[in-house]
Amino acid sequence: MVSEKNASQQAIDLEDKYGAHNYHPLPVVLSRGEGVYVWDVEGKRYYDFLSAYSAVNQGHCHPKIINALTKQAAKLTLTSRAFYNDVLGKYEQYVTTYFGFEKVLPMNTGAEAVETAIKLCRKYAYEKKGIPENEAEIIVCKNNFHGRTTTIISFSNDEDARKNFGPFTAGFIKIEYNNLEALETTLKSRKNIAGFLVEPIQGEAGVYVPSEGYLSKAKALCEKYGVLFIADEVQTGVARTGKLLAVNHENVQPDILILGKAMSGGVYPVSAVFSSSEIMNVIKPGQHGSTFGGNPLACAVAIAALEVVKDEQLAENAEKLGQLFRSELQKFIETNTLIKLVRGKGLLNAIVINDTEDSSTAWDICLKLRDNGLLAKPTHGNIIRFAPPLVMNEEQLLDCVSIIKKTILAFKS
Ligand SMILES: Cc1ncc(COP(=O)(O)O)c(C=O)c1O
Repeated sequence: MVSEKNASQQAIDLEDKYGAHNYHPLPVVLSRGEGVYVWDVEGKRYYDFLSAYSAVNQGHCHPKIINALTKQAAKLTLTSRAFYNDVLGKYEQYVTTYFGFEKVLPMNTGAEAVETAIKLCRKYAYEKKGIPENEAEIIVCKNNFHGRTTTIISFSNDEDARKNFGPFTAGFIKIEYNNLEALETTLKSRKNIAGFLVEPIQGEAGVYVPSEGYLSKAKALCEKYGVLFIADEVQTGVARTGKLLAVNHENVQPDILILGKAMSGGVYPVSAVFSSSEIMNVIKPGQHGSTFGGNPLACAVAIAALEVVKDEQLAENAEKLGQLFRSELQKFIETNTLIKLVRGKGLLNAIVINDTEDSSTAWDICLKLRDNGLLAKPTHGNIIRFAPPLVMNEEQLLDCVSIIKKTILAFKS
C-alpha cells in the first residue's frame, strides 16, 4: 500500500513521464469534486477558484447534470450526423430559445466553435456581401485568447502560443482592445472587412473589463459599416459575469455568438455557434461538421446544465457575490501593498500583484493559497484569476475572502 503522499507524487510522475509537457499544473492531484469543492488524493478539501477556466459554473458533479448524463449514456451516445437522433432537435430548440437566436451549429470545444464562427463569417461575406473570394478580413483584438488551433494562434500576439507553429493563416487585422477609435479607423479604411471578433471581457489576458459602452458602441459601428459582430463568450458566457451573457450587460445582440465550457457544466465537451437563419443558412450539407458535434449525450447534458443555471438563478448569484468579493478585496487592498488592484464582473475576477510580470510572486501566492485550501492559478505573470463555481453561497465566499487575505498577509511577512 503506497502512502497518500506517494499517491500524489506517483500521479504527477506518470503525467510527467508519459504526457506531453504542454501545461504547467499547480502541484495538487484531485480525485473528487462536489459543488464548490474538490478533494485531492490525500482527502484534503479545497475551494475550487478556477472552475476549469469557467466551465464548471454549475459546480462539480451537479446531480441533475450527472443524472442526465448517465440516463442518456445508457440509451444512446453517438450516431454521428449521418442520421438524425431524437435529442438534437429538442436541444436546438431549447438553446436557441434560451439564448435568443434563430439557429445553432453544435460543436465540442471552444476552439472548434471559434473556427466555425470564422468560417461562417467568411462564407457569409463572400456569398451575401460580395467580398471578392479569399479577400475577407476579420478584425480581432490584441491580447485576445480564442483557443489553440493553427488559424486561431495566427491572430494571437502571445509568443509562447505562436512561436514555431507557423506558417499562419492570413486575413486577420489586430487592433487595440477597448479602443473604439481604432475600430472605426479600421472599418473605414478597409473595404473587405467581414467581421469583428471580440471577447466581451478578455479572460485569459487577465480579466480585462472594457469601458462601459464599449460593446454597444462597437456593435453600432459594426452595423454602420455592415460587418458581423462576433462575440466569443466561451469564458464569459452562461452566467459567469452576472448575466446570462456578458453582452447582456449592454443589451447587445451579437450577429454570431460563440459558447462552450459551461454549456455542459464541465461534464462533457459542448460548444456552439449561434446566429440568424440568414447567416447560418450559407452553410450547406458537406461544408462543415464534426463527428461528435450535436451527439445525444452532449445535448442531454447541455439541456440539464442550462436548466440548472435558470433553476438556481446562477447569474443573479454571480452578480451578488461578485459585488461582495470585489468590495471585500478592495477594502483589503487599501491596507496592503502586495496587491495592486482587483477587477472583474460577476464571479470572473482577478487581482494584479504588485510585482514585475516575469516574477514568480503570483505563482508562489497560488502555492500558499493551495496550502490554505483554495485553488487558483496565475494568468499572464502577475495576475491571479478568481472564478469559483457560481453555486457558491455567501458564507463560503466570505470564507474564501478570509483565506485569500490570510494568505497574502502571511506572504508579506
Ligand atoms: C474566450 C475563449 N475562447 C475560446 C477558448 C477555447 O476553448 P477550448 O479550450 O475549449 O478550445 C477559450 C478557452 O479558455 C476562451 O477563454
